[in-house]
Amino acid sequence: MPAWLKDAVFYEIYPQSFKDTNNDGIGDINGIIEKLDYIKELGCNALWINPCYDSPFKDAGYDVRDYKKVAPRYGTNSDLYRLFGEAHNRGIRVLLDLVPGHTSEEHEWFLESKKAEKNEYSDRYVWTNGAFCGIGGHPYIGGEADRDGCYMLNFFKCQPALNYGFLNRTADWQFAPDHPACIATREALKDIMRFWLDHGCDGFRVDMADSLVKEDDENKSATGKIWKNIREMMDSDYPEAALVSEWSNPHQSLKYGFHADFYLDHVGNGYNTLIRDNESEGGDHSFFKKDGNGDIMRFLLDYLPKYDATKDDGFISFITCNHDTPRARRTLGYDELKVAYATFLTLPGVPFIYYGDEIGMRYLEIPTKEGGFARTGSRTPMQWDNSKNYGFSDANPDVLYLPQDNAADAPTVEAQKNDPASLYNELKAVISLRHEYQDLNADASFEVIYAEKEQFPFVYRRGNLLVAVNPSNTKASASLKGEAFIKENDESKTHSALELIHSIGSASFSGTTLVMEPSSFAVYKLV
Ligand code: GLC
Ligand code: CA
Repeated sequence: MPAWLKDAVFYEIYPQSFKDTNNDGIGDINGIIEKLDYIKELGCNALWINPCYDSPFKDAGYDVRDYKKVAPRYGTNSDLYRLFGEAHNRGIRVLLDLVPGHTSEEHEWFLESKKAEKNEYSDRYVWTNGAFCGIGGHPYIGGEADRDGCYMLNFFKCQPALNYGFLNRTADWQFAPDHPACIATREALKDIMRFWLDHGCDGFRVDMADSLVKEDDENKSATGKIWKNIREMMDSDYPEAALVSEWSNPHQSLKYGFHADFYLDHVGNGYNTLIRDNESEGGDHSFFKKDGNGDIMRFLLDYLPKYDATKDDGFISFITCNHDTPRARRTLGYDELKVAYATFLTLPGVPFIYYGDEIGMRYLEIPTKEGGFARTGSRTPMQWDNSKNYGFSDANPDVLYLPQDNAADAPTVEAQKNDPASLYNELKAVISLRHEYQDLNADASFEVIYAEKEQFPFVYRRGNLLVAVNPSNTKASASLKGEAFIKENDESKTHSALELIHSIGSASFSGTTLVMEPSSFAVYKLV
């Protein structure tokens, strides 16, 4: 486990929408470099940059045409190497996005693979042995190549599946995962990883990490074997590099070698019940919605078993949002976001802040771009200040990668920096608290102190810190009588034994009862 991860607070950058320095309307690597001081000032010490490789951009860059080349619209490889150096000078690590399950249909490997004549890349992708032989249970394309076969897709039509084999085989064109062609795919992936790690990158966020071996068993054990092999390479040659999975099943991913796994927004899971419950039927009962009448137990019943079973293997990553998910601002107001994000940043694991969430950027209802569809509204250009295009670019507004929030009260970094009560300043304060107290590190202990069905507040302990959360719009209290850290026999000491070190709204003790005002959050130090 790279030691730096314990204290890491990540910032996810969607490169096309962060900062444009050459006025073509699209963000670029130089723009990220220009804003490193901003990221550092916020307190983030690690970045995840979405795919910035050469691509036809039919899935916004997740359709990679050349894994080893920066897309010209973002700059050059030297720009990216310079970004690694500039970030490191500021104590910031940089994760790139690794897309192991598929390439673009324009990748050189695929152009070779689809040829009728057998060649080195014929088996790099999953092909059937006849143009009329389709693939049951998986999306595929037939009739598009000279080669007499159909090929499997991993996501969109533009993304043919790389061949890591099949665990349970039902046809003779399916290879075993240890077939030399499948091992060659794995080795090609390792070669890409080495290329970027050797140039100074600090690891990868891995796209659809569970999608490698087809017809895998329910534990994804064959896919897991590949990641274990890759982790061995990292442990021996790049022990400081980190691997974070898009898997959302820590029981599997963390056992197979990932250092951290995202707690993704899946309808009805624990994360979803906290801030995104609006995505299911029956009204929005998100825990962090003031009037949602939420229930912290819906979260804990999902989270605790995951946490307990995997806390010695790696970290579960809470996200404010990501490029695939509607921004939380769509349904939550600033008060609610402050309490929600403060909670995410004080729970165990390695947190990720999606660019723009620190100021509560809106989800915009806009037409699709580059395969974004409903995701497009979360991908709009960063709002830095009140100058042209909110300081994102000097280009004509109509050539911007995506339109921006035109509301009169559109949030900007500049305005929120100047407002002590802003979401930005709250987030910054909690991030700094997280760096100050080892008890808030990713691996520090976590114990639920007070959580009752359909009740507020939610109180938990991290080492010698007590964190209390009341997102509801009513006053809430919790009796902490009987807790070892409450000096029951001498109630007068209760107050001095708990030192308030951070709060949103107000919280206080009445004897051994914690009383919290609406929309409040408090961190106490047990002294
Ligand atoms: C992941 C990415 C998403 C992409 C897909 C296919 O889910 O986060 O943006 O479209 O994989 O690569
Ligand atoms: Ca640009």
